Parts: sequence; structure tokens; C-alpha cells
Amino acid sequence: MPHKDYHLQVGKAGEQRLNLLNSIYNTSSFKFLESLRLDQFKSALEVGSGTGDLTIWIAEHIHKDGILYSIDQSAQQLEICRKKMQQKQINNIRLKQMNVLEIDQLPIRFDFIYCRWLLVHIPNYKEVVEKLFSLLNPGGVLVCEDGVIGACSCNPVNQYFEQWKDNIANAFKIDGRDFWFGNKLLNLFQHVEAKNIIVNEFQPILNKEEKDVIKLSIVETKNYFMQKNILKSEKEYLNLLNGVRELENDQYIIKHILNKTVAGFKL
Ligand SMILES: C[S@@+](CC[C@H](N)C(=O)[O-])C[C@H]1O[C@@H](n2cnc3c(N)ncnc32)[C@H](O)[C@@H]1O
Repeated sequence: MPHKDYHLQVGKAGEQRLNLLNSIYNTSSFKFLESLRLDQFKSALEVGSGTGDLTIWIAEHIHKDGILYSIDQSAQQLEICRKKMQQKQINNIRLKQMNVLEIDQLPIRFDFIYCRWLLVHIPNYKEVVEKLFSLLNPGGVLVCEDGVIGACSCNPVNQYFEQWKDNIANAFKIDGRDFWFGNKLLNLFQHVEAKNIIVNEFQPILNKEEKDVIKLSIVETKNYFMQKNILKSEKEYLNLLNGVRELENDQYIIKHILNKTVAGFKL
């Protein structure tokens, strides 16, 4: 069951889509994080653990005596993450079910704070970035990754792809959220006066299997889009779901969400 401002599925229902997104985007995220030399950081925090693939990777790459605190508001996501930790026998992660809005209750300061695809779901994201930055130790670094959904494209134009994209744009508009949110990250880092800011961008072209991510997003957002009257009937939903199968054809070159990463230090 999604939380108030989070309209995607959590737990098993959202796992397949997150697995695909991990296989599409993780190489780029890992490369960026490697460049920051995580092995120097002893206390780390991840917000919005999701199903834990990044959580585990970060725990394996921080200082050998380091501890990673990882929070998510969803018990179902944390459960999947916990199972992966047990399978891999990772002992330096402390999972906590918590809303990021309560993050200042943590009585700890961190050398490294990370979140991916979290801020876009949070109406008061500015306050959250301020809080996260305030939790850094001197010399610590905050890293945020978020997508620019508006930058998705399909060439040649396909009516079902455009409908999928328009539906998301409409949902964002109704919720007062920004379809181009990733572009806001740099300003947020400047706002908290982060130093030595580094920016990275990655926009994947989807292969045949990865194109399933579009179908899965339609399935996951069905109920929410019906409630908001963005999808007006079951027939319209099924028509869209069947229609996007056309995209499997190799002629369609799909550039998926442009992922923006920003890192900034507290001196
Ligand atoms: C799109 S998923 C990304 C998961 C993971 N960071 C990744 O990159 O694979 C967003 C995650 O943030 C969590 N989340 C959303 N809003 C949150 C909030 N206000 N506080 C804590 N976690 C939140 C969701 O439960 C979900 O697991």
C-alpha cells in the first residue's frame, strides 16, 4: 500500500520495477560514488532505502569499520532489504522505519548522506535537503540523485509513449510536483551553501528487456491514475498497457529518465 505522498508500489508489488531500474541506473550511480572514495567515510546515512541494492553496495564500500544507517518509511521495502542483508551476511547496516521528515531525531552526525529518487516524492523537499545537510559532520558530503522525467523521449514518435508521458505529467501537475525535478537539485545545493559541488548526468537508452519498465510503471500507477481521473476507464488503461507493447520493436529508440546527481561538501 503506497504512503500518502508516495504513489508507487512498495514491497513485492514494486520490486520488479525497482530491480529493472537498478540494472539500468546502478552502474552510473556506483561509478559516481566510487569517485568520492566512500572508504574514507565511517558514518553514513541513506534515505529511502527501497529494496536495498544500493544500501548493500554502499555498506560494502564505506570504511571497513563504518556503519550505514538506512531509513525508509515503508516496512515492506525494509523487509526486502533485510532479507538481502541476511543472504549476503552484511552486518554494518542499521535499518530504521522512519519518515525523512523526522530525520533530525537521529542523534548522530554523518560523513556521507545519500538519497536516490526520494526528493521528487516529497512536497517539502527544500526543508529535507536543509535537514540532511545539517546532519553532516564537517568535511562530510551529501549526494542526491533525482530524475528529469520530462526529458524522456521516443524516436520515432509513438502515440502510446506520448500518452504514458502525458499521464505522468498530468499527475505531477495535479499533485503540484515538478516533472523536471532533477533540474532543481543544483539550486538546492547552492541554497544550503554546499561547497565543491559536483554534478553528473546519465540518460540511458533502453534495450528490449529494459523497455518493460514503462509497462511496469503503468501497472503500478493504475489505481492512483484512476483515482485522479487521468485514466478514465479500465478500457483506457488496457488500451495503453497493450499499446506500449509496440515499443518493444527495435525501431523505437527510447531515452529513459535523465538522472541527475549532485554532491556537495560541508566544510
Ligand atoms: C523510488 S524508491 C527509490 C529506492 C532506492 N533509493 C533506489 O534508488 O533504488 C523511493 C523510496 O523512498 C521511500 N520514501 C518515499 N518517501 C519517503 C519519506 N518521506 N521518508 C522515507 N522514505 C520515503 C519509498 O518508500 C521508497 O522505498
